[in-house]
Amino acid sequence: MTIKDKTLVNINGQILKPEQASVSVFDRGFLYGDSVYEVTMTLDGVPFMVEDHMDRLEKSASKIGLPLPFAREEIVRQLITTVKSLGVKKSYVRIVCTRGAGEITLDPTKEQTGNFILICKELHPNPSHWYDKGVWMVIADVIKKHQRATDPSVKSGNYLNNVMAMAEAKQAGAFDAIMLNHQGMVSEGTTSNIWIVKDGKFITPPLDAGLLGGITRKSLLDLGKNQNLQMSEANFSPEEMKKADEVFLTSTTKEIVPIVKIDDQVIGSGQPGVNTRKLHALYQDLMVKHYKSEKSRLNI
Ligand SMILES: Cc1ncc(COP(=O)(O)O)c(C=O)c1O
Repeated sequence: MTIKDKTLVNINGQILKPEQASVSVFDRGFLYGDSVYEVTMTLDGVPFMVEDHMDRLEKSASKIGLPLPFAREEIVRQLITTVKSLGVKKSYVRIVCTRGAGEITLDPTKEQTGNFILICKELHPNPSHWYDKGVWMVIADVIKKHQRATDPSVKSGNYLNNVMAMAEAKQAGAFDAIMLNHQGMVSEGTTSNIWIVKDGKFITPPLDAGLLGGITRKSLLDLGKNQNLQMSEANFSPEEMKKADEVFLTSTTKEIVPIVKIDDQVIGSGQPGVNTRKLHALYQDLMVKHYKSEKSRLNI
């Protein structure tokens, strides 16, 4: 395996080059996807929305009874130190906590020591055509898991469901896939939340549609309140989505990406919509302000 981008890995507090970084084949993250993770990014060494990511990491871990190997302050400290050693302008940061290595058994109560892994790599700008021209998505045949199965609100290492949906998208030549829940309503993308715009109103499925509470999604809902935008959480069907004026996806690293075609259906004018663009501009202002205040709060 060759890693193109400048990368450093931190395993249990030790900063390593990618080729030196390895965990046991007995690790339950590898064997069963028995792990939780977060993805954030940094700008000039300042982590983005780090407290929200820590909140979600703790919630995910608590929902599956996985003890986090470090306290949140220590995780943030390790993150800042590792990114500083990487020394790049922008970085992608993946925080992984596994239940660790032990006997081969599904039983999570058996003796094992959790592993903490940080993967920090240089982050390049996303292709500008995503934003200027929009992307084409398909609706996956594979459905989102029920909340009583592997709960989609837990950001666990068990992403096979989403991998299969992405495989369908790639098979079709699309950018990514939108997943429906067991009731046939829209839940989310494989690694993003989905929004529609109808008559100037922004709508995203509620958490009980079976999805990950995205941090970008939450920031936009808060932004909507502050800016007096009409925003709501409501279920919508794939047919309603295809008839929307605008559709877009949101995630930390992608921000806001317009979706201009779903399956064979062109959305609206087939161009990124004015509301999507406006919201993205507001979100980018928020990002700039956030980095500035976090830089001083974290003393970086
Ligand atoms: C399944 C899923 N939904 C939504 C998101 C978007 O979340 P966020 O905005 O916190 O990046 C992600 C992020 O990777 C995800 O994996």
